[in-house]
Amino acid sequence: MNTGALPVTARTATQTVTVTTPGHRYDILIGAGLLADAAAWMGLPRAAQAVVVSNPTVQALHGAALLAAIAPHYGEVSTVLLPDGEQHKDWTSLERVFDHLLARGCDRRTVLFALGGGVVGDMTGFAAATYMRGVPFVQVPTTLLAQVDSSVGGKTAINHPRGKNMIGAFHQPVRVVCDLATLATLPDRELRAGLAEVIKYGPIADAAFLDWIEAHLDALLARDAAALAQAVRRSCEIKAAVVGADEREAGLRAILNFGHTFGHAIEAGLGYGQWLHGEAVACGMVMAARLSVALGLVSADFAERLRALVQRAGLPVVAPDLGGAARWLELMRIDKKAEGGEIRFVVIEAPGRAALRPAPDALVARVIEDSRRA
Ligand code: NAD
Ligand code: GLY
Repeated sequence: MNTGALPVTARTATQTVTVTTPGHRYDILIGAGLLADAAAWMGLPRAAQAVVVSNPTVQALHGAALLAAIAPHYGEVSTVLLPDGEQHKDWTSLERVFDHLLARGCDRRTVLFALGGGVVGDMTGFAAATYMRGVPFVQVPTTLLAQVDSSVGGKTAINHPRGKNMIGAFHQPVRVVCDLATLATLPDRELRAGLAEVIKYGPIADAAFLDWIEAHLDALLARDAAALAQAVRRSCEIKAAVVGADEREAGLRAILNFGHTFGHAIEAGLGYGQWLHGEAVACGMVMAARLSVALGLVSADFAERLRALVQRAGLPVVAPDLGGAARWLELMRIDKKAEGGEIRFVVIEAPGRAALRPAPDALVARVIEDSRRA
């Protein structure tokens, strides 16, 4: 992969995006080398104890660097490891965190650090939201997906066998530290999965960003430092703006779920961990774009443009077999955006503009059948 690109480990200047909600204000720090940058760890809430929540994969790669960074600020720092994988985003893993916190006598000032991808981040956030009715936590996302999406905005959750992210809470982190250098160790498949959430921001909020992604996809796949920095920064800016306007998803925030209604059905229907979350969202975006065409909202050219981009990113564009359209519809009715059993989809009204709409079952079924073929 010698493209002449600047490697993502090359130190880059720190960029800051601020998230402001009615009750919270915090910074997302973005740059390569932040784990080793003392400035990134100053000014966090003080406490006797800090607890790093991670998994064995990430801990082995980046755990020592995080411990070195935060040790000067806390009397004791301990680590709890959760099993790796979406199939472990459940009560059993969550209990491990609570067991650890209680066994070590952690009080309500204890600060949790989520070191890992979205699975670790969502579970650490939920543990922080509920332990002693709420303790502070810091997101230290190490996947592209977590840096551009899951670490920002305070949605925390675990899965239920019947539905994705069904049990959770809103709990904002006190800081997000995105060290781009951690992306150097990310497997290619995970990088591509993260690109799905980057691509998402174009159709829903920023047509110019979609153009930019199309032009820089090869650089992103090659992990060019400047391209990744720009992708993470612009994604975080868009997410921060949406979350700032609608923290609790009363309306606007639902657009961040573009592709997720179909995608969550894929994840739950195939069994968590079969397709990566980003892969399911990627295919779901192609399906949601086709639904937008079927509803007469956007041109077929736009849906094809998105399909081509998703495919170029090495992500799936053909829907898996979940057992017929009726099964898809059953899975999608469990979606959190559904109201009174009516599924509501994030659709594209124009490149860069999304809305939440119901759709007739027959139309959705046709999109599902069409998406099984191409
Ligand atoms: P993940 O957390 O499972 O991480 C993917 C894999 O990469 C794991 O095996 C992990 O151990 C490994 N990994 C992480 N960092 C690494 C690194 N630097 N080097 C090598 N390996 C590394 O998956 P994900 O894609 O990061 O997150 C998906 C989850 O995020 C889903 O559960 C999804 O529901 C959730 N999510 C939440 C939000 C939100 O707003 N809270 C938004 C989007 C997605
Ligand atoms: N990823 C969806 C949201 O944060 O609202």
